[in-house]
Amino acid sequence: MNTRERTSLQTEFSLTKCLQVNIAAMIARDARILISAEQIQERVKELAAEIESDYGAGPLYLISILKGSFIFVADLARAFRQLPVRIEFMAISSYGNEKTSSGQVKLTRDLDVPIEGHHVLIVEDIIDSGVTLSYLKRLLEHRKPKSLAVATLLDKPEKRIQAVEVKYTGFRIPDEFVVGYGLDFAEDYRNLSDIRVLS
Ligand code: IMP
Ligand code: MG
Repeated sequence: MNTRERTSLQTEFSLTKCLQVNIAAMIARDARILISAEQIQERVKELAAEIESDYGAGPLYLISILKGSFIFVADLARAFRQLPVRIEFMAISSYGNEKTSSGQVKLTRDLDVPIEGHHVLIVEDIIDSGVTLSYLKRLLEHRKPKSLAVATLLDKPEKRIQAVEVKYTGFRIPDEFVVGYGLDFAEDYRNLSDIRVLS
């Protein structure tokens, strides 16, 4: 390939990318708001108060499951008044670029601290089939935390395949594919401050 051909290919690639980004922005703008930014902020404060009263002096290890829970964990952590928390991250992949789960969970980033003897709260964006969470709970249970519980912003109970105990739930929602406030579709829309339904 000569230089001119390469430049032309690069330009074509940039234009396609630009078009994709613009289409994503248009779709997000038109998507129906299911939960407003205000409702989310209100509920996050309530959850934080409940968690704080349950864990007393802490410290509580918040384990944020990337990437979907990054905004939720940031707001939740800042809503605590006095509870000492540590924030750790794990990454899991199960969806690929589809709207339905591949059913196969892959750990793509593990914790880099031991959790033995500590109170641990897994922070998830959404529980759908329950496959991801069941896998995670089993994995972390083996590491002997003092306690292990789950907080999720959203729950789609209709889609459950594997039963899993969830201590704190922000909102129960119907079986619809949602984006925003950390949740994505093929990596788009995570930055929306509300939750929208992508039809
Ligand atoms: P589960 O293993 O089926 O419970 O899948 C949970 C994971 O799937 C979540 O942590 C999300 O990353 C993703 N997910 C499930 N439902 C949705 C949705 O409606 N929008 C965006 N991501 C979703
Ligand atoms: Mg997730």
